[in-house]
Amino acid sequence: MIPSNITATKTAELNHLSLLNPSDLEGSSYGDLRQRLLDKKAKIGVVGLGYVGLPLSMAFASKGYHVIGFDNNPQKVELLNQGKSYIQDVPTPEVTKNLEAKRFEAYPNFSKIKDCDVIVICVPTPLSKTKDPDMSYILQALEKVEASMRVGQLVILESTTYPGTTREVMLPQLEGAGKRILGRNFVVGKDFYLAFSPERVDPGNAKYNVYNTPKVVGGVTPQCGELASIFYSNVMDKVVQVSSPESAEMVKLLENTFRCVNIALVNEVAIMCEKLQVDCWEVIEAASTKPFGFMPFFPGPGLGGHCIPIDPTYLSWKLRSLNYTARFIDLANSINSSMPSFCVEKINQALNKQSKAINGSKILILGVAYKKDIDDLRESPALDVIHLLKGKGANVDYFDPYIPAIDWDHLEMSSIELSPAKISQYDLVVITTDHSNVDYASVVKNARLVVDSRNALRDYKEDKIVKL
Ligand SMILES: NC(=O)c1ccc[n+]([C@@H]2O[C@H](COP(=O)([O-])OP(=O)(O)OC[C@H]3O[C@@H](n4cnc5c(N)ncnc54)[C@H](O)[C@@H]3O)[C@@H](O)[C@H]2O)c1
Repeated sequence: MIPSNITATKTAELNHLSLLNPSDLEGSSYGDLRQRLLDKKAKIGVVGLGYVGLPLSMAFASKGYHVIGFDNNPQKVELLNQGKSYIQDVPTPEVTKNLEAKRFEAYPNFSKIKDCDVIVICVPTPLSKTKDPDMSYILQALEKVEASMRVGQLVILESTTYPGTTREVMLPQLEGAGKRILGRNFVVGKDFYLAFSPERVDPGNAKYNVYNTPKVVGGVTPQCGELASIFYSNVMDKVVQVSSPESAEMVKLLENTFRCVNIALVNEVAIMCEKLQVDCWEVIEAASTKPFGFMPFFPGPGLGGHCIPIDPTYLSWKLRSLNYTARFIDLANSINSSMPSFCVEKINQALNKQSKAINGSKILILGVAYKKDIDDLRESPALDVIHLLKGKGANVDYFDPYIPAIDWDHLEMSSIELSPAKISQYDLVVITTDHSNVDYASVVKNARLVVDSRNALRDYKEDKIVKL
């Protein structure tokens, strides 16, 4: 029987295999793996133990599975094998508990891939310098997985990528493993199984986690989709099976393009409101009272993180190869990437009103993480704001309770200690990230001038506060 927490879209065929006589499946690699998944005896390999791979490993280990982690960063592997976490959302005691219970182990090499029934790949998919998809991490991981594969394994890609990656990049490489083992190419759906399942983790989100965020799955064959669905249904509350890996890949890109475009829209609303001399935050708050047909998004100093600024570009890149221009994505990227400059212009205007210039001013950046309450600096717009201000001759310091030091993108800085006396030394404070654990009352009281790009000071009405 198919577990009851798996649902399928109308086009995904969910039940055809469960209608087969169980004896037809016995002894086949499909039947064996399916039974191991249903019996929760499958051994799981996770490749890439970062923001996505480590929480996933802990989720399965904490439910009693034996998880083997693989990461080519030996320092991370060493920390994990000492029972220590380096990811904010994964508490160290969880790693220690799973390590001591022998449910989790980590390696920098891939020889134990052959021991795994399921292999989940969670490596980075950044952009290259020329803003094209950088597939090198997936390719390196694939090569190593292929070299240690055996018959009957299920491989799932979770890294965000362009539609077609699973079938066009993963499939041929993994089929090739058959030559070494069987003297012929592996047949997908018979000798091994392949699926795509986008990760939807939202770091720092206290409500939605790896367990209660529905998991979308698309297999290369119906067998692949069904096995991957059963695998996740053992741990996740709800699994949604779609008909193909391309659909699953596109689901993730739709979700993140939706955010990217809507953030761009509201960023442009902020630019328009400035020209109209209207408070955009008040407009968004009032529009949000409409109980249908509206969903609030908020402007800011720019997009950040490993997903929203990058993933839509994977989609537009793929569409370019099909002679189509993804106009919404291009426009959204153009607006969102102009926001650090818009923020700096606000700073310029605020200082100008006090007969000061950016050049020579002492400016404190409050918050450099790409969003509130997390310790992730990747693609953070605060870094762009710092670069722009420094380029205009400002003396810039920063404070971030989650990021003690920056060594990134030609910037080497350390967070200052935030105190009333320190705050009062700056000509201007810019709130670039609205962390919850900052004493904003003290900021308002002691700062000479504040540019608030996140509406963190919504409860304060002082002339010295300039909103985005
Ligand atoms: N971070 C998020 O919030 C998030 C959310 C959804 C999806 N994603 C996607 O998930 C994927 C992983 O993102 P992440 O944030 O976990 O990245 P990360 O950089 O935190 O972790 C990736 C890990 O993979 C390791 N690695 C790199 N190449 C490897 C290789 N060849 N073999 C073994 N290990 C290797 C790195 O050392 C690192 O520990 C990306 O495609 C990302 O777009 C991320």
